[in-house]
Amino acid sequence: MHKGRARAYTNIALIKYWGKKDETLILPMNNSLSLTLNAFYTETEVIFDETYTQDSFYLDGELQDAKATSKVSQFLDIVRQLSEEKSYAQVTSKNFVPTAAGLASSASGLAALAAACNEALDLQLSDRALSRLARRGSGSACRSIFGGFVEWEQGTDDASSYAQPLNSDDWTDDLAMLFILVNDQQKDISSRDGMKRTVETSSFYPGWLEEVPKDLAIAKKAISEKDFTTLGTVTEANCLKMHGTTLAAVPPFTYWSPDSLKAMQAVRSLRSAGIECYFTMDAGPNVKLLIEKKNLAQAQAYLETLFDSAQLVSAFAGPGIEILK
Ligand code: ADP
Ligand code: DP6
Repeated sequence: MHKGRARAYTNIALIKYWGKKDETLILPMNNSLSLTLNAFYTETEVIFDETYTQDSFYLDGELQDAKATSKVSQFLDIVRQLSEEKSYAQVTSKNFVPTAAGLASSASGLAALAAACNEALDLQLSDRALSRLARRGSGSACRSIFGGFVEWEQGTDDASSYAQPLNSDDWTDDLAMLFILVNDQQKDISSRDGMKRTVETSSFYPGWLEEVPKDLAIAKKAISEKDFTTLGTVTEANCLKMHGTTLAAVPPFTYWSPDSLKAMQAVRSLRSAGIECYFTMDAGPNVKLLIEKKNLAQAQAYLETLFDSAQLVSAFAGPGIEILK
C-alpha cells in the first residue's frame, strides 16, 4: 500500500491559456501568466493498493460516476507509466472551491492529485517535473505547483512545456483578488470543450494568438516594475479578448451572464470613483477583481451595495504545493 496526501491552491490567469496545439499532451497555443491564491484549494489523498480491482474517485464525500472517474483514471495511467506501480488507486479529494464553476477547481484538483501521487509513490519529481505531470491532467494545473505569479511556458513538446514562478513575492504581498460569485453551479461548457470549439471554429482566434505575446510582455514588465495600473489594464484587456473569441465560435457561446455584466460595470464605476481595480473572468460567469490590498475594504463596501455579502470572497497570493502528512 502506498499513500500520499497533498494540498494545492487555485490560480487565476491574468494572461489566459486558451487553446491547445496538442490535446493529448496538453500543450497550449500560447504562454499564460497567473496568480496563485490562498482562498480556494483542493486536498487530495491517493492510495495505491494491490487489493483494489479498479480505480475509484471520491469527491467531497461522494463516489463519482464512471465519467468523472475515467478522467482521474487516465491521469493515474500516466503516473503508472512513469513509475513501476501497477496497482489501482483510490483517490479521495475535497474541493474548498466550487467544482467546475469557472473558479479553477481543475487547476487545484489536478495539481493536488499530481503532488499526492508523487508523494505516494516516492517519485521524487522536481517541481518542474511535477508541473509537467500536473499539466497532463489539466493545463492550468501546471501553474498551481508554484505560489505567487507564475508563467506557463508553452514549449514545443512534453519536456519543454512547464510553469515557473516569476519570483515577485515582495509585490504579491500588496495585492488581492476579490471574487464576485454570481453563480457557483457547474457550467454548461467546460474550459476544455470551450477552448476546443474556439480553436476549431472561431474566426477571431488568430487575432487572439497575435495579441497574447504582446499582452504577456506588457504584464511581465509591469510585474517587474510593480506597475499596478499597467498590469490591471492588460489583465482586463486580455480577458475581454479571450471572451471575444467565443462569440465568433460555431456555434457561438459566452460564459457571461447578466450578473457578470453587472459586476464588470461595478468595476468601471469603482474606477471612475478613484478606486483602482480591474476584472478578469474564466470559463464561467464569476468575476474576479484585481486590486491592491490597501483599496480592498473600500471596494468591498461598494460592492456590498450591489451584491449579497456572501457573494464576495477575497483572496490573497497563495503558496505552491503543500504535502500533508
Ligand atoms: P473549473 O472552472 O472549476 O476549473 P473545469 O470545467 O475547467 O472547471 O474543470 C472541472 C473538472 O476538473 C471537473 O469536472 C473534474 O474533472 C476536474 N476536477 C475538479 N476538481 C477535482 C478534484 N478535486 N480532483 C480531480 N479532478 C477534479
Ligand atoms: C479560461 O486548464 O481547465 O481558466 O487544460 O483542458 O483541463 P484543460 O483546461 P483548463 O483551462 C483553463 C482555461 C482558463 C484560462 C486559464 O486558466 O489560463
